[in-house]
Amino acid sequence: MSDPNPLIYFDNAATSFPKPAPVAEAMGNFLTRRAVNPGRSGFDLSLETGRMVDQVRGRLDRFFNNPAANPNRAVFTANATDALNIAIQGICRPGDHVVTTVLEHNSILRPLTMLQKAGIITFDLVPCDMNGRVDPAAVEAVIGPVTRMVIMTHASNVCGAVQPIEEVGALCRDRGILFLLDAAQTAGLIPVDMTALQVDLVAFTGHKSLLGPPGIGGLIVGPDVDIISTRWGGTGVRSALLEHPSDFPWRLEAGTLNTVGIAGLAAAMDWIAAKGIHVILEHERGLANRFLAGIAGLNNIKVHGCGESHPANLGADRLPVISITVAERPAEQIGQFLDTDWNIAVRTGLQCAPLAHEAMGTATEGSVRISFGPFNTSSDVDVAIAALKNLAG
Ligand SMILES: Cc1ncc(COP(=O)(O)O)c(C=O)c1O
Repeated sequence: MSDPNPLIYFDNAATSFPKPAPVAEAMGNFLTRRAVNPGRSGFDLSLETGRMVDQVRGRLDRFFNNPAANPNRAVFTANATDALNIAIQGICRPGDHVVTTVLEHNSILRPLTMLQKAGIITFDLVPCDMNGRVDPAAVEAVIGPVTRMVIMTHASNVCGAVQPIEEVGALCRDRGILFLLDAAQTAGLIPVDMTALQVDLVAFTGHKSLLGPPGIGGLIVGPDVDIISTRWGGTGVRSALLEHPSDFPWRLEAGTLNTVGIAGLAAAMDWIAAKGIHVILEHERGLANRFLAGIAGLNNIKVHGCGESHPANLGADRLPVISITVAERPAEQIGQFLDTDWNIAVRTGLQCAPLAHEAMGTATEGSVRISFGPFNTSSDVDVAIAALKNLAG
């Protein structure tokens, strides 16, 4: 018998769920047939696993169009947070200045704050407008003589606004300043082209729109990036050396890799390539637009970070991530109602981006974030609209 009230999952910006079936199959196969340590030993199975890891490195390097065109500069990490920490701590030197924005996730704000508290760096926060967008001129205005790096999210995880990365990339390149892009929300949904965007490093995570498992992500390092290792240990190469090797990828990788996660990520990327990244985006945008149209008549609902409280549609430069508040009630309360009475899963609160909420005026009550995935349907959206009508109609 089918479940009369199945879970409707609208928390894909936190992590995508469910995953495409081949992801679990690939991970199961890998665990039963191949889960040996790559690169550490000379036996056949280890070499085969090493080849699989190298293939996925190469694929990631091409996926992000790294101008370095060196697969060894695609470094595996646990997630985007790990990648951002490796980049920030590996690049910043005492006395450096960093430019970032109020839209950032705590995975950027916290490492920068910790380094600032330790007296190592200073940083400036560039504001955003009512559309959740940062003005490149405002970035340019705070760049100073000791600015080493600009760090920006590709798209806000609160309101979905895609940022003017190409313009910021051009101005960073002109001034010889490194540009680190947080592609946690965009990788797998819109192209992240390091060459076209003039980005020096990309941090990504495997478990969101790339549809892979949790625990795998990466940092793609472009050419001419002066980055040192901040974690040291076993690499399986040059074991007689007591110093950590400086060549990539080992410079930034220490310890056993999450090979099962890498196998799952590769299967997820196959699935995305077969479907077409644009097809997936259009599907999710269609759902987001249906949702916006459905709630348009509800006066107690405000949509945040897009200038007006009832946008007719998503706009070309937004991801299918929508933040709403209902009658100024605490977001938690709304989330609980949707969960308990309708079995709808959403994310409430500040979504780890407190300054974005401050900019949108929702820092006190937080927002209810609805984010769509490839397995959501229009009837899921209609149920969510019915639930909100019930609450705010
Ligand atoms: C914009 C942004 N950056 C970074 C992260 C951190 O990703 P992870 O939890 O995979 O490290 C997230 C996750 O929500 C995010 O939305």
